[in-house]
Amino acid sequence: MTHSHLPNWYQKGLPHIWLPYSQMQTASSPIAATKTNGSQIFLTDGRILIDGIASWWTACHGYNHPYICAALQRQLDIMPHIMFGGIVHEPALHLAQRLCDRLTGNLNHVFFTDSGSVAVEVAMKMAIQSRLNKGETRRTRIMAFHGGYHGDTLATMAVCDPEEGMHHLYGNVLTQQIIAPLPCDEPSFKTFHNLLEQHAHELAAILVEPLVQGAGGMLFHTPDVLQIIRHAADRYDILLILDEIFTGFGRTGTFFAYEQAHIVPDIITLSKALTGGTLALAATIAVPHVFEAFLSNNPEHALMHGPTFMANPLACTSANASLDLFDTEPRLEQVATLNSFLTDTLKACRTLPGVRNVRTLGAIGVVELEHINNHERLRQEFITHGCWIRPFRNIVYLTPAFTIDEKELHTLTHTVYKVLSA
Ligand SMILES: Cc1ncc(COP(=O)(O)O)c(C=O)c1O
Repeated sequence: MTHSHLPNWYQKGLPHIWLPYSQMQTASSPIAATKTNGSQIFLTDGRILIDGIASWWTACHGYNHPYICAALQRQLDIMPHIMFGGIVHEPALHLAQRLCDRLTGNLNHVFFTDSGSVAVEVAMKMAIQSRLNKGETRRTRIMAFHGGYHGDTLATMAVCDPEEGMHHLYGNVLTQQIIAPLPCDEPSFKTFHNLLEQHAHELAAILVEPLVQGAGGMLFHTPDVLQIIRHAADRYDILLILDEIFTGFGRTGTFFAYEQAHIVPDIITLSKALTGGTLALAATIAVPHVFEAFLSNNPEHALMHGPTFMANPLACTSANASLDLFDTEPRLEQVATLNSFLTDTLKACRTLPGVRNVRTLGAIGVVELEHINNHERLRQEFITHGCWIRPFRNIVYLTPAFTIDEKELHTLTHTVYKVLSA
């Protein structure tokens, strides 16, 4: 970015900002966005970038969708926010009912929060306390998986992949959870079952991202892995929590990823594309037997959680508007078309030196490399070509808006090829 284009607010404000996932001593200056539209990000220096990752997988209908914006503007005049303790409102109740209608199985009890990490923490609390309320005091641990990612708060770090969750750096600060390999071949299946045999008596829940471990490196597994996990959870009487914060709302080709495995979780977590990428909102949704474990004459058996901005009316309104768009516009067909396009165009990357694997699922396209030396340099090259693509670990990936047009998508996939072949 040329210096003359940097506005005053950027120069004065940036020294006060602590950026996410950044070594602030060496981090290069962030780009400055002034507005968004569709799949485009407009920068202060006049450049326009095509967003290849839909703002961390949220903006499934593209930015500033007029239908969502209009709904938000109406709600803004009516009631932007109100506390949820002892007061309810139409956007939240309407949304809760619609989410339960959309979910197969008996997922019927919705607890709203304001971020994915907190939704996962609530799921963990639901699982653990449902046992404690019944007097089962030993079932307080969670089994999660290598390659998994469930958030950045302390409790969720403990259920992330040990490397991703920085278990070594945080040492004893993190609760010791059971991290197993995903049961996807004979040896991992054995280890998974051995760990269950050893720890089932102390496990409240098994927690997994269905079909795709997103932040762990866009690692795909097949639906039968989820069936194996569901079966094991039943066998050992352990609850199954599915974290669909990344995979929910069409990203893997079905509305929810777990539909492809024909199983049902006991608890599910949703966020990211829930509001069509406009506002912070998350939901943790449980089946009756989890909810009913909290019903008691004892006030201590209640779920003691209540974020200040939970069920924010504006956020719920945008989520309702987003669901309307899924009802009225052909989003899943667009995901199928995107999948064909990504599969056809990214396969050329297979022959490039240093490319280990190319894979797609739904509206996710991944080029896995042997390794990436300099993520920042790669990111800058994509920007130079007019694309917002953010490589991490050893992957370059695309998760565009489902509404992206073919020309923009072509620019993204062509740029991935060009930059990786340079
Ligand atoms: C599967 C999954 N769970 C949880 C989270 C955490 O969500 P948040 O960043 O909103 O706290 C993420 C974020 O990337 C995620 O991908």
